[in-house]
Amino acid sequence: MSKYTALVVEKSEEGMSHSLVQLDTNDLPEGEVLIKVSFSSVNYKDAMSMTGVPGVTRQYPHTPGIDAAGVVAESTDGNFSPGDEIICIGYDLGMNTSGGFGEYIRVPSKWISKLPEGLSLKDSMIIGTAGFTAALCLEKLELMGASPEDGPVLVTGATGGVGSICVMLLSQLGYEVVACTGKTEKKAFLMDLGAGSILDRAELSEPNKRPVLAPRWAHAIDCVGGEILSNIIKELSPQGSVAICGLVASPGFSATVLPFILRGVNVLGIDSVEIPIDAKNRIWDRLASDWKLSHLSSLSNEITLSGLGETTEKLLAGLGSGRTLVKVG
Ligand SMILES: NC(=O)c1ccc[n+]([C@@H]2O[C@H](COP(=O)([O-])OP(=O)(O)OC[C@H]3O[C@@H](n4cnc5c(N)ncnc54)[C@H](OP(=O)(O)O)[C@@H]3O)[C@@H](O)[C@H]2O)c1
Repeated sequence: MSKYTALVVEKSEEGMSHSLVQLDTNDLPEGEVLIKVSFSSVNYKDAMSMTGVPGVTRQYPHTPGIDAAGVVAESTDGNFSPGDEIICIGYDLGMNTSGGFGEYIRVPSKWISKLPEGLSLKDSMIIGTAGFTAALCLEKLELMGASPEDGPVLVTGATGGVGSICVMLLSQLGYEVVACTGKTEKKAFLMDLGAGSILDRAELSEPNKRPVLAPRWAHAIDCVGGEILSNIIKELSPQGSVAICGLVASPGFSATVLPFILRGVNVLGIDSVEIPIDAKNRIWDRLASDWKLSHLSSLSNEITLSGLGETTEKLLAGLGSGRTLVKVG
């Protein structure tokens, strides 16, 4: 039994509130592995859990944090031993299972990846679910045959967590990246990450009744959905693909069959949460080797548990940029 500190969100008639609370590891849910958390990170879903957005966390009081990296403290699974450095992202962590915004988590062993050689605990959480999702998007685009020679790749929500790592990863691998953003004042940040050019989000946000438009993008990664996604599908080059992962603008989009049957374009769905642990291990291995990101610190800032309220508010207002690392332990 250990006492530990966690951020706990409560729901009452007055609304949502959060505070740092002393808890006991005996109160953590069942699971084979107890982990002392070193770092977590802030993702859009954490902001939704913190503020009680329906469909994310069912029961409060609750400790959010869909990402955690740390050290095994106890394990009843022979594949993990005390002292092992591990990463745990997604599944139910931080949703309805006490998450990475606490100094300890207890989880099923099938949720855990061993930290690959070549990656530090800190860098794994600068990457976090957002960066892992960026890598999943790229992997799926490449499975459909995408390569740097194809032409420009559009990234929407480019200053956000997923978007900024997409820009960095694509550019590092030789792709020409067009960063679509609502924060044109962040041009220097995006160019430093490797964007070749910047597109004002407003330009892609207008509804357009035409079923197809002049091809502009070899491929795209869309973090926002809504009208922007509808327009991207119409503007994909023949055989182009868009990987879709987010809904910050809207979960809906509209399309006719015409871009699909006239240009053979592909819409690729991305789920970072429930994919099997073997697939997660494969992506982490790539992020520690051929897809290792060289300047991660340039897109992250670091906070402690006490800074989470302010950071998640900014994220929900669409004002975040880059990644926020949470130093927990
Ligand atoms: N499918 C998955 O497994 C998976 C995994 C991770 C995240 N996601 C989802 O991906 C999305 C992005 O996550 P994130 O962590 O990158 O969030 P984030 O850090 O908050 O970034 C979202 C970015 O979207 C842009 N944006 C904000 N409001 C917008 C609006 N109304 N219309 C258009 N663009 C807007 C902003 O970038 P600009 O100002 O640069 O435009 C913002 O920085 C979220 O919906 C999240 O739930 C899905």
